[in-house]
Parts: sequence; C-alpha cells; structure tokens
Amino acid sequence: MTVHFIGAGPGAPDLLTLRGRDLIAACPVCLYAGSLVPAEILAHCPPGARIVNTAPLSLDDIIAEIVAAHADGKDVARLHSGDLSIWSAMGEQLRRLRALRIPFSVTPGVPAFSAAAAALEAELTLPELAQSVVLTRTPGRASAMPEGERLAAFAATGAVLAIHLSIHLLDKVVAELIPHYGADCPVAIVWRASWPDQRIVRATLATLDAAIGPELERTALILVGRTLGSEDFGESRLYAADYDRRYRPVGAAPRFPETPS
Ligand SMILES: C[S@@+](CC[C@H](N)C(=O)[O-])C[C@H]1O[C@@H](n2cnc3c(N)ncnc32)[C@H](O)[C@@H]1O
Repeated sequence: MTVHFIGAGPGAPDLLTLRGRDLIAACPVCLYAGSLVPAEILAHCPPGARIVNTAPLSLDDIIAEIVAAHADGKDVARLHSGDLSIWSAMGEQLRRLRALRIPFSVTPGVPAFSAAAAALEAELTLPELAQSVVLTRTPGRASAMPEGERLAAFAATGAVLAIHLSIHLLDKVVAELIPHYGADCPVAIVWRASWPDQRIVRATLATLDAAIGPELERTALILVGRTLGSEDFGESRLYAADYDRRYRPVGAAPRFPETPS
C-alpha cells in the first residue's frame, strides 16, 4: 500500500502529468484538496473509488483516512493543487507518514505561477532585466512569515516576484513595492490561471488600482517585474551565431571540437 501525493496542476484538467493521471486511475481511494482540483481530474478515479474532499478535515482526520486505507491495503491518491513543493501542506503529512511507516511517493504538478506566466505569454527571466523569480506570499492569519522574508527585502533585489495568497492585500502590496520597483513598473494579475473563467489584468504599479475594479475572486497571482511585457532586452548569448558551444562548435579552434551525437 502506498500514498501517492500528486500535484494536480493549476486548474485545466489536461495540465496533469500522465504519471499523475495513471496513479489516480489505479488508486481505490482519492483524497483531494478542496475546490482548486477540478471535477474532470476526479473523473480519472476508478469506478467505486472512495473520493474525499479534505478541505473541511483536520490533519488528524486526513491521517485517519490514510491509516484506514493502509489497514485495508488500499493505495491512496492524495491530490493537491499546482505543485507539491509550494504551499501544499504536504510536508506535515509526510512527517506523519514517516512516523507511521506508511510508504508514499511524490509526483510533481504544474504550479500556478507557470500557468499564470503561460497565460501572459511571458518568459519571466529575460537577459539584462531579471534573472531570478521569487515565489512568495504575504503573512496570513494561519501563516506568519519568517523574519527576513519581507516583501520589501525581495523587492530590493529587483527580481520578478510571483506573489501568492495575497490578492486581498493588494493595496498594501503595491504600496510596499513602489519604492523599490518604481510606480511605472509593470504588474499583472492572473485570476484562476488555466480555468475557463481565467482573467488577466495588466497595468503598472501606479495604474493597477484603477485597472482592476471590484473583484471578489481570491485565487489569483500577482506578478511584478521589469520583464513583464518588455520587448527591450538582449538576446541570450547561447543562441548567438558566434557563440562557440558543445552542441554547435564555431570557429577554427572550437572549445569542444567533438560534437556529441
Ligand atoms: C495554497 S497556494 C497553492 C499553490 C500551489 N501548490 C502551486 O503550486 O501553485 C494557493 C495560491 O496559489 C495561487 N493559485 C493557485 N492556483 C491558481 C490559479 N489557477 N491561478 C492563479 N493563482 C493560483 C493563488 O495565489 C492561491 O491563493
């Protein structure tokens, strides 16, 4: 018996890995995290599967479900939205399973920030403008931020920020970022990236407030940085015609004379 933790992706049911789909289809028990996992993904469960929405459950309740499946020798598909490596609460479940000696596996998923960047048709890292992306959030009622992980500290680096779980604090976020990025810095908000009701607003930090109007939907990402919407960046050296590299030796004395097959 194994508990398969599976990243269910950002929303579109076909943004699920083939491995994730096949594991779901093979598990007689499926525990899924609330409204961010679409019904089409649950449709991969085998007929008669026990399918449980864990949104109203406590960690103890969730582990009790797993322990019961373990006693019955039934594999469990444990679905979380996006990828499991960020804000999935997988860590605390794995710690309990290790203590209980219940086997598990982890299958990655497409994270929301990738789906949001795809919706914006954006490469977030562009030569000379930004070479780092910070996946972050603001403090929440249930989650304080460690000292040092302040938005202003990340903003001071000029990296692109992908700010999660923070749309309800947008005014505060914008006020904190303007001193670092400048009021003219591009910002994009993507609500429900990859879902049929996806919505995008592009603006600058100065014009954002007027651009969005009242919006109640809270599943959204705030992306901020100079690469958003910019056409003013250098080309990467890797593909320059005169750049000598292992896969494309150039010149009379290439660095890597043997081109690998
Ligand atoms: C608990 S976190 C889950 C993150 C997820 N594990 C991931 O890999 O993206 C939930 C937050 O992720 C962001 N999010 C999740 N799905 C999204 C989507 N489809 N579009 C925009 N933002 C999304 C929102 O900021 C939301 O408040």
